[in-house]
Amino acid sequence: MPDRNDLALVLRGGTPIVVVETHDEPGFLEMLRQICSGVTRDNYRPLFRWAVTEGLQRLDLALDAQTTTADPRDALRHIRAVDKPGVYALLDFHPYLNEPMHVRLLKDIALAARRRRQTLLLVSHALKLPPELERLAVRFELSLPGESERARIVQRIAEDWAQETGRGVDIDPQAFDLLVRNLAGLSTADTERLARNAITIDGAIGASDLPQVMQAKYELLNRDGVLSYEYDTARFADVGGLARFRTWLEQRRPAFLGEAGARGLEPPRGVLLVGVQGCGKSLAAKATAGLLGAPLLALDFGAIYDKYHGESERRLRESLRMAELMAPCVLWIDEIEKGLATGSGDSSGTSQRILGTFLTWLAERRSAVMVVATANDISALPPELIRKGRFDELFFVDLPSAQVRRDILDIHLRRRGLEPDHFDTARLAAACEGFSGAELEQAVVSALYAANALQQPLGPGHILAEMRRTRPLSVVMAERISALRAWARDRTVPAD
Ligand SMILES: Nc1ncnc2c1ncn2[C@@H]1O[C@H](COP(=O)(O)OP(=O)(O)OP(=O)(O)O)[C@@H](O)[C@H]1O
Ligand SMILES: [Mg+2]
Repeated sequence: MPDRNDLALVLRGGTPIVVVETHDEPGFLEMLRQICSGVTRDNYRPLFRWAVTEGLQRLDLALDAQTTTADPRDALRHIRAVDKPGVYALLDFHPYLNEPMHVRLLKDIALAARRRRQTLLLVSHALKLPPELERLAVRFELSLPGESERARIVQRIAEDWAQETGRGVDIDPQAFDLLVRNLAGLSTADTERLARNAITIDGAIGASDLPQVMQAKYELLNRDGVLSYEYDTARFADVGGLARFRTWLEQRRPAFLGEAGARGLEPPRGVLLVGVQGCGKSLAAKATAGLLGAPLLALDFGAIYDKYHGESERRLRESLRMAELMAPCVLWIDEIEKGLATGSGDSSGTSQRILGTFLTWLAERRSAVMVVATANDISALPPELIRKGRFDELFFVDLPSAQVRRDILDIHLRRRGLEPDHFDTARLAAACEGFSGAELEQAVVSALYAANALQQPLGPGHILAEMRRTRPLSVVMAERISALRAWARDRTVPAD
């Protein structure tokens, strides 16, 4: 128990106020009780807890609570009046720190604390100390359970459940390992809770439990709300083309998941997908999560910006830290250039600092967070971002070839319950040179409406008619696309 030794040291150090942020209050109090009862008789100090519901109560002796001290002001006055050693754990005191009288009383107690050998512990899920008290206080950070500790917790929960219900838990060893891995970053209490949820649903630990566990974990951890959990991932079977990108990912999957066969291989850090609008960049990001079997977290750079100086970087750092806690995961940054566009209109240099923070993280981090960033507008991409070695690879997503157009048509017909063989999609694909995936999908969708209006079943003729009617972006924006291709030629590799 490294925490116990550290906390014992903190208590012995004599700092008057110790701030402890934890969701595991019972666990923390138990640790505190063990420390206080483990000291020599000369060093013994009585231990109290305070909560607004009960007032002060001895924890080291079975004594009744002193309900007359339920009011925070009375409790502090009482402690200030006691000229004797003592350890006081004030539970959920954070709302009362807004009151100047309470702050002053705390300060009075703290100033006399060394002489009297008193320690105040402020135990809350989150607590911001007023500046007056800052110098009289230390923060004590509880460490989170490590991998072997988490394995023991899950094992114990499974055994408890088996005892309670008289039924054994059906444990799939691979899912067990993944579960233990995915619970990283949670406190002991939360780890127990999520493990219990996973087991009670079906009396088993199986692969099907993992998505729910990850969602629950995300909800526990996400405080600022800049990252969003994307429930809607995709499979590469739904993506036409992008074969090279897919192979690239498949080769790195074992290293990403830390599988035994991949020891010594560097896990992938991230890719940038640059390309023509509507050709499947966002879709490919979703399919990456599907292929890697990891949750998909979207980071909206635009939402990070805040008018207060320094606040944007703090939010970015928080989000990146959150992604690390969710590892293994895919971090999707769609249209990254929109959040990073440097140059004019950014007089405070915020996007420059955001970029710096992001690049530093990208270079340093070691956890299994796979970044998939997408970009349309190369002119707005800061050169630092595409310099060699930032991302593992820059992929160019071009307009689909005839074969890929056929695959895309097949995918979208099948998705609507239609059999591609009845449509001669090879011929259709030959008739839509320059169409993007999104435009191909649109042709199918519009043709369905047209056929429906004519009260006919959908046939290849309807699709062909829609294609003829479409002026694809590649025609409308021919210049931009050729500029994009020229740019991509010696900077990127083709995704297909
Ligand atoms: N390669 C593809 N395979 C299958 N469907 C595709 C493909 N490309 C595009 N689509 C269809 O078009 C939709 C829009 O594509 P997507 O949003 O992935 O393109 P994008 O490259 O991200 O475009 P934008 O640059 O506008 O963000 C997809 O949801 C999908 O239905
Ligand atoms: Mg997109």
